[in-house]
Amino acid sequence: MIQLIRGFKDILPGEVELWQHIEKTARSLFEDFGFKEIRIPILEHAELFARSIGEDTDIVEKEMYTFPDKKRGLITLRPEATASVVRAYIQHTLYAKDPIQKFYTIGPMFRRERPQKGRYRQFYQINAEVFGIDSPLIDAQLIFMIMTFFSRLSVTGLEAHINSLGCHKCRRNFKDALSVFLSAASEKLCTDCKRRSLRNPLRVLDCKVPSCKEAMVEAPSILDYLCPECTMHFNAVKDALKKFNIPFVIDRLLVRGLDYYTRTTFEIQTGSLGAQNAVAGGGRYDTLVKTLGGPDQPAIGFAIGFDRLVEITDLKSADFVRKPDIFLAALGEKSMSIAFEWFCAFGVDGIKAELDLNGRSLKSQMKRADKLGAGYVLIVGKKELEEGSVILRNMTTKEQTAIPIDNIVEKIKKIIDHELHGYIKR
Ligand code: HAM
Repeated sequence: MIQLIRGFKDILPGEVELWQHIEKTARSLFEDFGFKEIRIPILEHAELFARSIGEDTDIVEKEMYTFPDKKRGLITLRPEATASVVRAYIQHTLYAKDPIQKFYTIGPMFRRERPQKGRYRQFYQINAEVFGIDSPLIDAQLIFMIMTFFSRLSVTGLEAHINSLGCHKCRRNFKDALSVFLSAASEKLCTDCKRRSLRNPLRVLDCKVPSCKEAMVEAPSILDYLCPECTMHFNAVKDALKKFNIPFVIDRLLVRGLDYYTRTTFEIQTGSLGAQNAVAGGGRYDTLVKTLGGPDQPAIGFAIGFDRLVEITDLKSADFVRKPDIFLAALGEKSMSIAFEWFCAFGVDGIKAELDLNGRSLKSQMKRADKLGAGYVLIVGKKELEEGSVILRNMTTKEQTAIPIDNIVEKIKKIIDHELHGYIKR
């Protein structure tokens, strides 16, 4: 039997209802905060990711699904969404109408990492990106928005980690100090980091190899190298977070695994996922729009790991499964043909109906209605049709009522609407 590719998964009915609920909650909250949905392609030119995420990052070096297209060079299954959203902002000159734009996008990403709990090769992200706003208030507002989102979804035990990577000016001085430190610590570093310490020293701070992690404890802190403007910006982010009552930890090693970040970076971490403890990550990327050929516009965003969120929420998919409002139990050919018409009419009217098209016995149909959790069963038998009425059984109270068959769909809709929504019509 052909099985799934390692690191990929199916999201089955029974699980998918929770995913749908999370997606609905995200859309509603993000739109209330002024974000609009943007849908971007899954395939992009490989160069887009190499230029934005950075050639010397793990993602670009080892994890991208890149293959040659027939005519157009190398193409890549997107490992993240930010680069594509920036490309779209530039390509469609969205900044010309208004440089301030807020987007969200939800969908699958692909990274060829070693699969483990909370780490997949196809995973899903909920992204938000803001363009054209320099103010540190937006940095704090995004973290506030993520925390509100998690609390709506009954996720607890989270910790916000923040850092500032400064601007290119402060980064230059820091890189010099870091390079001096790294050359002294060279023997303790892994082979990748020995190379990185020359080409892109910041990446060493991010390495997950234990010996590198240990060596980095003594590394200089970027926060000691921030210029006055970046210090002010970071202080204002912290002040705003305090105003929102969001506890945070300053994490000077939080450089994130992508090269485009400037100034504020953040991660929301959980204690309940083992090594894969980040459920969301983001930060500013004030120079990326310009680097990719657009105007000089600041930007900031984040991505929430959808799969990880599903694993840590207390919500259960079963609570979001919609059970049938009514089960039509038809007995005999003529009844089936009438019940079939009603079955379709219920669907059109927004009533969730089920009909056993296999024409089994009443007993087995009742069993199935019970198993599906139907609210009502409508018994459509030969005798009932001859008498011009059908029997409606309330599956909770077990009460049975005979209802004349004229306008039956409308009558039942009224009963169900009344039960589900009081007297308010849908
Ligand atoms: P990232 O930290 O690479 O950032 O990913 C964001 C989140 O996606 C992580 O915190 C994690 O929850 C989830 N994630 C990442 N890789 C995997 C995986 N292999 N399996 C399951 N979940 C995973 C970005 O992608 C940036 N584009 C975020 C951003 C948006 N920065 C600015 N705007």
